[in-house]
Amino acid sequence: MTDISSYIRAHSSPEGDYLYRLYRATNIHTIHGRMASGHVQGRLLKMLVEMIRPKNVLEVGTFSGYSALCMAEGLPDGGKIYTFEINDEMEDFTRPWLEGSAYADKIDFRIGDANTEAPRLGITFDLAFVDGDKRTYVETYETVLSLLRPGGYILADNTLWDGHIIDPAYDHDQQTQGIRRFNDHVAQDERVEKVMLPLRDGLTIIRKK
Ligand SMILES: C[S@@+](CC[C@H](N)C(=O)[O-])C[C@H]1O[C@@H](n2cnc3c(N)ncnc32)[C@H](O)[C@@H]1O
Repeated sequence: MTDISSYIRAHSSPEGDYLYRLYRATNIHTIHGRMASGHVQGRLLKMLVEMIRPKNVLEVGTFSGYSALCMAEGLPDGGKIYTFEINDEMEDFTRPWLEGSAYADKIDFRIGDANTEAPRLGITFDLAFVDGDKRTYVETYETVLSLLRPGGYILADNTLWDGHIIDPAYDHDQQTQGIRRFNDHVAQDERVEKVMLPLRDGLTIIRKK
Protein backbone atom coordinates (compact mmCIF):
# COMPACT_ATOMS: atom_id res chain seq x y z
CA MET A 1 0.00 0.00 0.00
CA THR A 2 1.36 3.46 -0.89
CA ASP A 3 2.12 6.08 1.76
CA ILE A 4 -0.70 8.31 0.55
CA SER A 5 -3.25 5.44 0.76
CA SER A 6 -2.15 4.72 4.33
CA TYR A 7 -2.44 8.41 5.17
CA ILE A 8 -5.96 8.59 3.71
CA ARG A 9 -7.04 5.50 5.66
CA ALA A 10 -5.56 6.87 8.88
CA HIS A 11 -7.53 10.09 8.46
CA SER A 12 -10.86 8.47 7.58
CA SER A 13 -13.31 6.84 9.98
CA PRO A 14 -12.48 3.19 10.72
CA GLU A 15 -14.43 0.50 8.86
CA GLY A 16 -15.28 -1.46 12.00
CA ASP A 17 -14.47 -5.02 13.00
CA TYR A 18 -17.13 -6.85 10.94
CA LEU A 19 -16.11 -5.20 7.66
CA TYR A 20 -12.41 -5.61 8.49
CA ARG A 21 -12.96 -9.34 8.95
CA LEU A 22 -15.07 -9.56 5.78
CA TYR A 23 -12.38 -7.80 3.73
CA ARG A 24 -9.71 -10.18 5.06
CA ALA A 25 -11.90 -13.23 4.44
CA THR A 26 -12.68 -11.97 0.93
CA ASN A 27 -8.98 -11.73 0.14
CA ILE A 28 -8.22 -15.15 1.63
CA HIS A 29 -11.11 -17.07 0.09
CA THR A 30 -11.68 -15.43 -3.31
CA ILE A 31 -9.34 -15.04 -6.27
CA HIS A 32 -10.04 -11.37 -6.95
CA GLY A 33 -10.37 -10.07 -3.40
CA ARG A 34 -9.33 -6.57 -4.35
CA MET A 35 -12.65 -6.18 -6.19
CA ALA A 36 -14.25 -5.48 -2.80
CA SER A 37 -14.71 -1.76 -2.15
CA GLY A 38 -12.54 -1.69 0.98
CA HIS A 39 -12.10 0.77 3.81
CA VAL A 40 -12.10 4.27 2.29
CA GLN A 41 -14.52 3.71 -0.57
CA GLY A 42 -16.78 1.86 1.85
CA ARG A 43 -16.84 4.85 4.20
CA LEU A 44 -17.65 7.12 1.25
CA LEU A 45 -20.53 4.86 0.16
CA LYS A 46 -21.97 4.94 3.68
CA MET A 47 -21.66 8.72 3.84
CA LEU A 48 -23.24 9.24 0.40
CA VAL A 49 -26.17 7.04 1.43
CA GLU A 50 -26.55 9.10 4.61
CA MET A 51 -26.57 12.28 2.49
CA ILE A 52 -28.99 11.01 -0.18
CA ARG A 53 -31.28 9.18 2.28
CA PRO A 54 -32.61 6.70 -0.32
CA LYS A 55 -35.55 4.38 0.33
CA ASN A 56 -34.62 1.89 -2.39
CA VAL A 57 -31.05 1.16 -3.48
CA LEU A 58 -29.99 -1.08 -6.37
CA GLU A 59 -26.56 -2.66 -6.50
CA VAL A 60 -25.18 -4.33 -9.64
CA GLY A 61 -22.43 -6.70 -8.46
CA THR A 62 -22.56 -7.88 -4.83
CA PHE A 63 -19.35 -9.96 -4.92
CA SER A 64 -18.58 -10.61 -1.20
CA GLY A 65 -21.11 -8.07 0.10
CA TYR A 66 -18.64 -5.44 1.35
CA SER A 67 -20.19 -2.46 -0.45
CA ALA A 68 -23.77 -3.64 0.25
CA LEU A 69 -22.99 -3.70 3.98
CA CYS A 70 -21.43 -0.22 3.87
CA MET A 71 -24.46 1.22 2.10
CA ALA A 72 -26.84 -0.60 4.47
CA GLU A 73 -25.00 1.01 7.40
CA GLY A 74 -25.97 4.44 6.10
CA LEU A 75 -29.59 3.63 5.19
CA PRO A 76 -32.45 5.32 7.04
CA ASP A 77 -35.13 3.20 8.75
CA GLY A 78 -37.30 1.48 6.16
CA GLY A 79 -34.61 1.66 3.49
CA LYS A 80 -33.69 -1.41 1.46
CA ILE A 81 -30.83 -2.50 -0.79
CA TYR A 82 -31.53 -4.91 -3.63
CA THR A 83 -28.17 -6.35 -4.58
CA PHE A 84 -27.57 -8.70 -7.53
CA GLU A 85 -24.67 -11.08 -8.11
CA ILE A 86 -24.50 -12.94 -11.42
CA ASN A 87 -21.91 -15.49 -10.23
CA ASP A 88 -23.79 -18.15 -8.27
CA GLU A 89 -20.48 -19.52 -6.95
CA MET A 90 -20.29 -16.47 -4.65
CA GLU A 91 -23.54 -17.29 -2.86
CA ASP A 92 -22.14 -19.72 -0.27
CA PHE A 93 -19.51 -17.19 0.76
CA THR A 94 -21.55 -14.00 0.61
CA ARG A 95 -24.98 -14.93 1.98
CA PRO A 96 -23.78 -15.83 5.52
CA TRP A 97 -21.86 -12.53 5.77
CA LEU A 98 -24.94 -10.55 4.75
CA GLU A 99 -27.44 -12.55 6.80
CA GLY A 100 -25.15 -12.61 9.85
CA SER A 101 -24.68 -8.85 9.86
CA ALA A 102 -26.50 -6.18 11.86
CA TYR A 103 -28.12 -5.04 8.58
CA ALA A 104 -29.58 -8.32 7.35
CA ASP A 105 -33.13 -6.94 7.27
CA LYS A 106 -32.03 -4.07 5.00
CA ILE A 107 -30.41 -6.22 2.32
CA ASP A 108 -32.20 -8.30 -0.32
CA PHE A 109 -29.46 -10.42 -1.92
CA ARG A 110 -30.30 -12.11 -5.20
CA ILE A 111 -28.32 -14.33 -7.53
CA GLY A 112 -28.93 -13.27 -11.12
CA ASP A 113 -28.14 -10.80 -13.87
CA ALA A 114 -29.14 -7.35 -12.62
CA ASN A 115 -29.72 -6.19 -16.19
CA THR A 116 -32.61 -8.62 -16.65
CA GLU A 117 -33.72 -9.20 -13.05
CA ALA A 118 -33.79 -5.68 -11.60
CA PRO A 119 -36.51 -4.42 -14.00
CA ARG A 120 -38.70 -7.37 -12.90
CA LEU A 121 -38.79 -6.03 -9.32
CA GLY A 122 -41.12 -3.21 -10.40
CA ILE A 123 -39.31 -0.80 -8.04
CA THR A 124 -38.27 2.79 -8.66
CA PHE A 125 -34.84 3.35 -7.16
CA ASP A 126 -33.39 6.45 -5.47
CA LEU A 127 -29.78 5.32 -5.72
CA ALA A 128 -27.85 2.69 -7.66
CA PHE A 129 -24.28 1.44 -7.28
CA VAL A 130 -23.05 0.13 -10.64
CA ASP A 131 -20.12 -2.25 -10.14
CA GLY A 132 -20.75 -5.17 -12.53
CA ASP A 133 -19.21 -6.27 -15.82
CA LYS A 134 -17.15 -3.41 -17.27
CA ARG A 135 -17.72 -4.64 -20.84
CA THR A 136 -21.45 -3.96 -20.53
CA TYR A 137 -21.39 -0.80 -18.39
CA VAL A 138 -23.32 1.22 -21.00
CA GLU A 139 -26.12 -1.36 -21.19
CA THR A 140 -26.25 -1.60 -17.38
CA TYR A 141 -26.31 2.18 -17.13
CA GLU A 142 -29.27 2.46 -19.51
CA THR A 143 -31.19 -0.21 -17.58
CA VAL A 144 -30.44 1.38 -14.22
CA LEU A 145 -31.21 4.90 -15.43
CA SER A 146 -34.65 3.72 -16.60
CA LEU A 147 -35.34 2.40 -13.07
CA LEU A 148 -34.17 5.57 -11.30
CA ARG A 149 -36.44 8.40 -10.17
CA PRO A 150 -35.69 11.92 -11.42
CA GLY A 151 -33.25 13.41 -8.90
CA GLY A 152 -31.89 9.94 -8.12
CA TYR A 153 -28.19 9.06 -8.20
CA ILE A 154 -25.99 6.45 -9.85
CA LEU A 155 -22.53 5.74 -8.43
CA ALA A 156 -20.39 4.03 -11.06
CA ASP A 157 -17.23 2.30 -9.85
CA ASN A 158 -13.85 1.74 -11.56
CA THR A 159 -14.30 4.53 -14.10
CA LEU A 160 -10.53 5.22 -14.22
CA TRP A 161 -9.70 1.51 -14.48
CA ASP A 162 -6.17 1.79 -13.05
CA GLY A 163 -5.40 4.60 -15.53
CA HIS A 164 -5.92 2.24 -18.46
CA ILE A 165 -8.62 4.51 -19.88
CA ILE A 166 -5.87 6.88 -21.10
CA ASP A 167 -3.20 4.25 -21.80
CA PRO A 168 -2.90 3.18 -25.48
CA ALA A 169 -1.37 -0.13 -24.32
CA TYR A 170 -4.90 -1.14 -23.29
CA ASP A 171 -6.65 -0.14 -26.52
CA HIS A 172 -7.53 -3.78 -27.26
CA ASP A 173 -8.58 -4.73 -23.73
CA GLN A 174 -12.33 -5.33 -23.68
CA GLN A 175 -12.89 -4.09 -20.14
CA THR A 176 -10.95 -0.89 -20.85
CA GLN A 177 -12.97 -0.43 -24.03
CA GLY A 178 -16.19 -0.92 -22.01
CA ILE A 179 -15.23 1.70 -19.44
CA ARG A 180 -14.12 4.18 -22.13
CA ARG A 181 -17.43 3.69 -23.94
CA PHE A 182 -19.28 4.22 -20.67
CA ASN A 183 -17.34 7.35 -19.70
CA ASP A 184 -17.89 8.91 -23.14
CA HIS A 185 -21.57 7.90 -23.13
CA VAL A 186 -22.21 9.51 -19.72
CA ALA A 187 -20.14 12.60 -20.56
CA GLN A 188 -22.40 13.43 -23.53
CA ASP A 189 -25.67 12.34 -21.84
CA GLU A 190 -27.77 15.45 -21.26
CA ARG A 191 -30.27 13.54 -19.11
CA VAL A 192 -27.78 13.57 -16.25
CA GLU A 193 -25.27 15.68 -14.32
CA LYS A 194 -22.01 13.96 -13.53
CA VAL A 195 -18.70 14.31 -11.72
CA MET A 196 -15.80 11.89 -11.85
CA LEU A 197 -13.82 11.46 -8.64
CA PRO A 198 -10.25 10.10 -8.65
CA LEU A 199 -10.98 7.99 -5.57
CA ARG A 200 -9.35 4.57 -5.59
CA ASP A 201 -10.06 3.26 -9.11
CA GLY A 202 -12.35 6.15 -10.09
CA LEU A 203 -15.93 6.74 -8.96
CA THR A 204 -18.40 8.71 -11.09
CA ILE A 205 -21.38 10.30 -9.38
CA ILE A 206 -24.33 10.74 -11.75
CA ARG A 207 -27.58 12.56 -11.00
CA LYS A 208 -30.67 11.98 -13.16
CA LYS A 209 -32.28 15.34 -14.00
C1 LIG B 1 -16.14 -5.49 -8.56
S1 LIG B 1 -17.14 -6.83 -8.06
C2 LIG B 1 -18.31 -6.08 -6.95
C3 LIG B 1 -17.69 -5.58 -5.67
C4 LIG B 1 -18.65 -5.06 -4.64
N1 LIG B 1 -19.67 -4.20 -5.22
C5 LIG B 1 -17.88 -4.27 -3.62
O1 LIG B 1 -17.62 -3.09 -3.91
O2 LIG B 1 -17.52 -4.79 -2.57
C6 LIG B 1 -18.14 -7.11 -9.49
C7 LIG B 1 -19.13 -8.25 -9.33
O3 LIG B 1 -20.18 -8.02 -10.27
C8 LIG B 1 -20.68 -9.26 -10.71
N2 LIG B 1 -21.46 -8.97 -11.93
C9 LIG B 1 -20.99 -8.66 -13.17
N3 LIG B 1 -22.01 -8.39 -14.00
C10 LIG B 1 -23.16 -8.51 -13.29
C11 LIG B 1 -24.55 -8.36 -13.59
N4 LIG B 1 -24.95 -8.00 -14.83
N5 LIG B 1 -25.45 -8.57 -12.62
C12 LIG B 1 -25.05 -8.94 -11.37
N6 LIG B 1 -23.74 -9.11 -11.02
C13 LIG B 1 -22.81 -8.88 -11.96
C14 LIG B 1 -19.42 -10.09 -10.87
O4 LIG B 1 -19.69 -11.47 -10.87
C15 LIG B 1 -18.59 -9.63 -9.66
O5 LIG B 1 -18.76 -10.47 -8.55
